Amino acid sequence: MRVVVTGGAGFIGANFVHLALKERPDWTIIVIDKLTYAGNKDSLPDSGYEFYKLDIAIQNQELEQVIKSCDAIVHFAAESHNDNSLESPWPFIESNIIGTFRLLELARKHHKRFHHVSTDEVYGDLELDSSDKFTETTPYKPSSPYSSSKACSDMLVLAWIRSYGLDATISNCSNNYGPRQHVEKFIPRQITEILQGRQPRLYGSGLQVRDWIHVDDHNSAVIKILESSTMGEYYLIGANGEQTNMQVVKKLLKSLGKSEDDFVHVEDRAGHDLRYAIDSTKLQTTLGWRPRYSDFDAGLEQTIEWYRNNQEWWEDAKRVTENNYLKKGH
Ligand SMILES: NC(=O)c1ccc[n+]([C@@H]2O[C@H](COP(=O)([O-])OP(=O)(O)OC[C@H]3O[C@@H](n4cnc5c(N)ncnc54)[C@H](O)[C@@H]3O)[C@@H](O)[C@H]2O)c1
Repeated sequence: MRVVVTGGAGFIGANFVHLALKERPDWTIIVIDKLTYAGNKDSLPDSGYEFYKLDIAIQNQELEQVIKSCDAIVHFAAESHNDNSLESPWPFIESNIIGTFRLLELARKHHKRFHHVSTDEVYGDLELDSSDKFTETTPYKPSSPYSSSKACSDMLVLAWIRSYGLDATISNCSNNYGPRQHVEKFIPRQITEILQGRQPRLYGSGLQVRDWIHVDDHNSAVIKILESSTMGEYYLIGANGEQTNMQVVKKLLKSLGKSEDDFVHVEDRAGHDLRYAIDSTKLQTTLGWRPRYSDFDAGLEQTIEWYRNNQEWWEDAKRVTENNYLKKGH
């Protein structure tokens, strides 16, 4: 099978390429990536795949040729950082909505299998003190320009399935953690702050709850859906990893030999979602998928180890990211 991985130089896409090369050696992997600030070729393996530097939001013949040559598309490419979407929403509209539209049109024209990777943030948030979880029937209620652009892309996929019979599936996953995540994101930012001798900063009370899943578990679910699911199916991916942001920061501080209280609170992000929680029963019962990282603390230790051992991968991006945050007064 020739599988196109869009956004394959980003966090989840690059880990997908590593996993697929290891677990599906008979696949040919073709990476498409624009290499935005979030894309990094050093996240990819040294060899074993094809790479095309392309913008999915721009119609062009090379993109069409690559799509024409494949059997399936796994669509990760997106602008993905909420903070950036609040500052500057346009790239999110362009990559997440127009980019998805262009890929859908190419998949339709050339009759390709399409898997759309999305987020649980399309559902908005849950009350902090409830035990509710998102399911496949939860109504969409996005909070930020990022989550609304992803919601819009999901709607496009649903319409292309219904109107054109496109052989497509959708998955909405909770917050991922693991190696090769950009240092602007919560867990790597906190790890690298501590490694560089600074105090982690927590938005607001720090009591917001995220449902963490190891990136390899997200990707093993995507492989399962790609191979086993029928057209039009829609799955939530999660691994029961609910933690408050404060709990995560305390765990990181402790693991890195600091006092658990060595952090500061900063002003909350506008529209910050309170709680996310995923019910992945459908994926588990219909496709038999199970997460491999059931122990969040062990996954976090592995992630810390990766950042400790791969400083050359993150230190340039760290400098740029922190300068940008400083300029914006974050
Ligand atoms: N990170 C999470 O916790 C999480 C959770 C659920 C779903 N998702 C979804 O998974 C996907 C991947 O997320 P991520 O965290 O790896 O993001 P990321 O920002 O780390 O990577 C995104 C990649 O897409 C590329 N890209 C962006 N715009 C492009 C364009 N127009 N053309 C081609 N390439 C483009 C970037 O260069 C980058 O390599 C996204 O669709 C995101 O919405 C992420």
